[in-house]
Amino acid sequence: MLNNSDLILVAGATGGVGQLIVAKLLEKNLSVRALTRNKSKAEKMFDDKVDIVVGDLRQSDTLMTAIENVNYIICCTGTTAFPSQRWDFVNFFEAKNSPQIVDGEGVKNLILAAPSSLKRFVFISSCGVLRKDNFPFNILNAFGVLDAKLDAENCLKKSGLPYTIIRPGRLIDGPYTSYDLNTLLKAKTDGKKAVVIGTGDNLNGDTSRIDVANVCIECLNYDVTMNKAVDIINSGVRPPVIDWEQLFSSMRRERD
Ligand SMILES: NC(=O)c1ccc[n+]([C@@H]2O[C@H](COP(=O)([O-])OP(=O)(O)OC[C@H]3O[C@@H](n4cnc5c(N)ncnc54)[C@H](OP(=O)(O)O)[C@@H]3O)[C@@H](O)[C@H]2O)c1
Repeated sequence: MLNNSDLILVAGATGGVGQLIVAKLLEKNLSVRALTRNKSKAEKMFDDKVDIVVGDLRQSDTLMTAIENVNYIICCTGTTAFPSQRWDFVNFFEAKNSPQIVDGEGVKNLILAAPSSLKRFVFISSCGVLRKDNFPFNILNAFGVLDAKLDAENCLKKSGLPYTIIRPGRLIDGPYTSYDLNTLLKAKTDGKKAVVIGTGDNLNGDTSRIDVANVCIECLNYDVTMNKAVDIINSGVRPPVIDWEQLFSSMRRERD
């Protein structure tokens, strides 16, 4: 259960989901540390309200200050599934920030750096990690993003840290930070779609960035989500209030 003396590190705080997570944590008067490669971007975004630490998942030595005294880590870093400028190309064949490097090796560096006293490590993975050979996930995985996510999931499971893995579907709703069709179309749920939670990577559909941010924080309040992978999409009519306890209780007897 989160409390006001906890310090929460958000890795990828400047990203679409990351910004929402930071905002929601601040709303709850919690202490937030933002990990970013770009200090001035984070300063403009967070306006002195969070502790900003510069670090790069690719370089373990840059993560040491970030993990000092943290009680929770929420990792929502990522790059694009398909080649883009975010891959930081050196030449046509070599990229410095590909999925394998950031989503795989980078996340593993953060897991290995995390203090053993950590209360929870929340990692945003992706739906499809257990269905990589099936359409449409075989297309999504053409450049290895699901391989990298699964690799990081497995490292987290073996780490001995208390964890929750979040597996969203294709992200919709702003902030529109990724370069994909949904970003171009600015697809959104208008806050009208219900949250559907599952286990075992069986769900298909889109997921609102807003609900991904919500589930990353809400899961910390429920022991049933400890050491589980939580699948999440949006579907159906949204009730006036989301009952996270009831949504998570459906996971009680399930394996991830
Ligand atoms: N797009 C989808 O449809 C989809 C589907 C399923 C799961 N996901 C996952 O959902 C999560 C959130 O997605 P999003 O679109 O909100 O993310 P995003 O806007 O693309 O943000 C990614 C963040 O990762 C950080 N980052 C990138 N490389 C880094 C590195 N080497 N070291 C440290 N930080 C690094 C960036 O921070 P700085 O530039 O400030 O360092 C940025 O804030 C990601 O984990 C993504 O893989 C996405």
